[in-house]
Amino acid sequence: MKAPRKLKIAVLISGRGSNMGALARACMNPQFPAEIVMVLSNRPHVAGLDLAREHNLPIRVVDHKDYETRGDHEAAITEVLESAGVELICMAGYMRILEDGFISRWRGQLINIHPSLLPSFRGVNTHERALERGVRIHGCTVHFVNAELDGGPIVAQAAVPVMPHDNADMLSARVLEMEHKLYPKALELIATKRVRWSGDDAQLAVDIAAGEILFWSGF
Ligand code: GRF
Repeated sequence: MKAPRKLKIAVLISGRGSNMGALARACMNPQFPAEIVMVLSNRPHVAGLDLAREHNLPIRVVDHKDYETRGDHEAAITEVLESAGVELICMAGYMRILEDGFISRWRGQLINIHPSLLPSFRGVNTHERALERGVRIHGCTVHFVNAELDGGPIVAQAAVPVMPHDNADMLSARVLEMEHKLYPKALELIATKRVRWSGDDAQLAVDIAAGEILFWSGF
């Protein structure tokens, strides 16, 4: 079978990089419609960079500490990504708030994975808050990034049950397993143009071909 044209993606990390690893494994399939042309970290000594090296992926560190302002740091990142011909940025545990300038430059080309079923539990400590709130279903979301924190159009979601004796680590591990399945699937939908963000805002701006599976359940 003829190999598809591959969308050039960059994965932005700040830490462990397990979602980057999941994307890298998916991209090893010659039929997968995307390739990782760069793994970029804002921190120099993180486990995710070692994992990227194991996968022989090109890595770049753009350390935020080397820049006076957030805007300068993000401009440097944009330059690096543009020089590599990046067409889509996948944020995977990238722990910096992005400024509007960066977000609008990459509008429709910037996605993130978040460990909750958005719009519930935006921000950090999602598993702790889900347990405190007593939800029975939790999960993860891949979404386009807009100026609102964890508020952009939703591409795909996966759900897991919350078990009676869960602690945050147990719940986090269950969600992470689904993240690793969901992120490559969401990327595939975007790379094959079955999902794109075309309009001004909110969910309705995502064109989704009928019948696509955008929801997975880990029950
Ligand atoms: C994941 O839970 C992801 O949803 C969140 O940060 C975590 C990153 O984990 N945004 P990893 O670095 O991909 O292992």
